[in-house]
Amino acid sequence: MKFRSRLVVNLHNLHHNYSVIKKMAPETEVLFMVKADGYGHGMIPIARYAMTELGIKEFGCATISEALKLREELNDLEFDIYVFSDIQLELFENADIYLKRRIIPVISNVSELEYILHTPEFKNFPICMKFNTGMNRLGLDPNDAPRIVSMLKNHGRTSVHHLISHYANASYPMDTNERNVFQRTRFLEIKKLFTDSGIILERTSQSNSGAIEQNIGFKEHGDTHIRPGLMMYGPTSLLSEYTNRGYFKGKVVSSLETYIIRTFEVKAGTPIGYGSTICPHDGVVAVLAIGYGDGFSTRYGGAHLYHKGFEGVITGRVNMDMIQVLFPIEARDHILAHEIFTIWGKQDGDLLKFSEETKTIPYELFCSLLPRVPRVYRLD
Ligand SMILES: Cc1ncc(COP(=O)(O)O)c(C=O)c1O
Repeated sequence: MKFRSRLVVNLHNLHHNYSVIKKMAPETEVLFMVKADGYGHGMIPIARYAMTELGIKEFGCATISEALKLREELNDLEFDIYVFSDIQLELFENADIYLKRRIIPVISNVSELEYILHTPEFKNFPICMKFNTGMNRLGLDPNDAPRIVSMLKNHGRTSVHHLISHYANASYPMDTNERNVFQRTRFLEIKKLFTDSGIILERTSQSNSGAIEQNIGFKEHGDTHIRPGLMMYGPTSLLSEYTNRGYFKGKVVSSLETYIIRTFEVKAGTPIGYGSTICPHDGVVAVLAIGYGDGFSTRYGGAHLYHKGFEGVITGRVNMDMIQVLFPIEARDHILAHEIFTIWGKQDGDLLKFSEETKTIPYELFCSLLPRVPRVYRLD
């Protein structure tokens, strides 16, 4: 049996992307975001490679179950895991998991902090807190910072393991976007309040990919860590009009490959597939083995795909298992059944082009792929 569609993950490109980041910020530690199954690339192989080959020791998940999976499947390795959003600290069994499996919940409200401080089992447990400096999603209120410092001191805590904030607008310029400037200033003020009050901040971080790409949030600016997600997987996180602001040139770690089930010639006016979309010109149709059952959304209909230098268009509705791509008739002798067809990852920029054309974002393209698309790993 040969493959239908597959996501070929070239771990060597992960190595490349990490090396570029380390060149940009040699003194700054990396907390690598591997949530959502390593942005769709397979959390376990990605994290194992990052640990054993790149030496990364800190990882970020969104949920406690992701973190538990990471801990259980990589139990031969030593590393820190943070749970950033869905920490569910209110459930007794979760508290037990955090304690016994050494998983760090990122505290984002005062009641969670009170719980940690008042529970004897958490007495020596690392405290990681996230402040809402302007994202307005999760996070402690900066106005509560003096009260939080007092709470820590009253419980004999003299240090914070990691103090965090998160940019809402890192895809925009860091120096001129008002929200970015506001969030940076706010985080500096919060850190100062803590340190002026005698609380040691062992680690601090604010920068996600867009900010890192613009050289913001490194050790020389007062933070110990950066938290790259998307850029580790290759694409820029900057909006297309601001890519000239970035200093990062990554390599997309994956290519999405499928194959041509069959080809046939059509005349202008021929109806194609569900809904009977009319072919606007004579051409050759390639039927590809990918559809929404693989996570290839119906919204991708009308987008352009390329094969052997010819431009085709996804014509008619995306099916559960297939798509039809209409090529010009000149491609007739070149687009052949059973050939491998690469949707993204063949040429520099093709993923971004596809994401712009389909009005989606690279994050979503990656994360949408379903388990029917096997992830295959390469090192070349
Ligand atoms: C708290 C936190 N830090 C870092 C990241 C990484 O962001 P990016 O993938 O844009 O680098 C995320 C992702 O959403 C996040 O939620």
